[in-house]
Amino acid sequence: MTTTGTPDSTQIDHVDDRAGELTRSSSEAAEMSLQDQLAKMRRDWDDRAVENAQYYVCTKDLTEDEFFATGETTVGEVILNDMSNICLGKPCKEMRVVEIGCGVGRVTRVLARIFGEVHAVDISGEMVRRARHNLSGCGNVFTYQNNGADLSVLPPLEFDFVFSHLVFQHIPSKNIIENYVRDVHRILRPGALFKFQLQGDTSILPHLRPDDTWVGAPFSEDEVLDMAQRCGFESRYRVGAGGQYFWNWFFAI
Ligand SMILES: C[S@@+](CC[C@H](N)C(=O)[O-])C[C@H]1O[C@@H](n2cnc3c(N)ncnc32)[C@H](O)[C@@H]1O
Repeated sequence: MTTTGTPDSTQIDHVDDRAGELTRSSSEAAEMSLQDQLAKMRRDWDDRAVENAQYYVCTKDLTEDEFFATGETTVGEVILNDMSNICLGKPCKEMRVVEIGCGVGRVTRVLARIFGEVHAVDISGEMVRRARHNLSGCGNVFTYQNNGADLSVLPPLEFDFVFSHLVFQHIPSKNIIENYVRDVHRILRPGALFKFQLQGDTSILPHLRPDDTWVGAPFSEDEVLDMAQRCGFESRYRVGAGGQYFWNWFFAI
């Protein structure tokens, strides 16, 4: 596949502080500015990465080998068993994919073995630095520190699949999550899949605080359907509504 226009992995140091056209709801605006919220997310995740990146990624005390084995398990459970939706007939080695919130590269490393190119973004420079180290043997991975709200840091290319796991469940703003969904639509090839996990347990809503970057905004199934429509997607499948692992298959229209 052509890699024209793709950055080299030194792109890791590129930090994009723009947050696109994102606007805040009046209630969020009243409580915390968007820029303050994004700055808090970055600071908290940087701190978590420094304290114990592996623990905060999968909330278990594991050896490094065990930790990376969980990445294999994740990919087995949500990627390899779903290749017909993900590839849509295209050879996977010819696919250019995006991972939102890559952390230290737990899943990215496995994706790199499957797909032609993997572009991985994360709000935390400390996470991205660790990902770069862990992914140093993967010549087809490009890592970026992004602004925490969109994918404007990526080069102007068309992508074949976008994936996110254990990330939106930590974002305390529906607007930021929807902004990501809208931006995924901008970069996806028409017809292609955005597969992502959300917090689906709406009973946590009373505990949601704009400055808490651990407890993310929950979505009901109806809210997901509305979001898909607003952002130009068909929400074809949903699994796990009502629980923490609310998986969504959004196909770009
Ligand atoms: C629990 S870790 C999961 C990492 C990775 N997805 C995995 O499964 O191994 C959450 C990651 O999401 C990143 N993150 C949190 N909020 C983000 C945002 N608004 N934009 C991009 N990344 C974000 C954090 O920095 C952290 O690396």
